[in-house]
Amino acid sequence: MDNLTRRDFLKIFNRLLAATGLAAILSPVVAYFYPPNLEEIPAEPVLVGSAAELPVGASKTVRFGRYPALVIHTAGGLRAFSAVCTHFACVVKWDEAAEQIVCPCHEGYFDATGAVVSGPPPTPLASLAVWQVGDEIYVGSEA
Ligand code: FES
Repeated sequence: MDNLTRRDFLKIFNRLLAATGLAAILSPVVAYFYPPNLEEIPAEPVLVGSAAELPVGASKTVRFGRYPALVIHTAGGLRAFSAVCTHFACVVKWDEAAEQIVCPCHEGYFDATGAVVSGPPPTPLASLAVWQVGDEIYVGSEA
């Protein structure tokens, strides 16, 4: 290490920068070919919260195993989906005013059933089971 010249240090630094840039470029490509495995879902239901926290029109994103779940209280009842976009795995959000699920990454839009409305997502959002016990709302894997 005593003989490390400024030029050697810059070479190492440049290589690290190049490796970081390459990883940043390749990670979306890898994510496309190896999408999240939604079968890695918890065996046990996950508590979303109390019904009072989720009035009609509201939504809540909760941790569901390794991935987030989006729970929406629509006029037609409770619905739950994987919050992982089917395009490049960004986290989607509920737009209450538009009554659509929105992916901010590439302007992907899904309706309240999880179906693709427009944008690049190739498939609907994965549905999850949602139910209420007393005052508590739970999300779980679909049977
Ligand atoms: S990641 Fe959602 S539209 Fe691209």
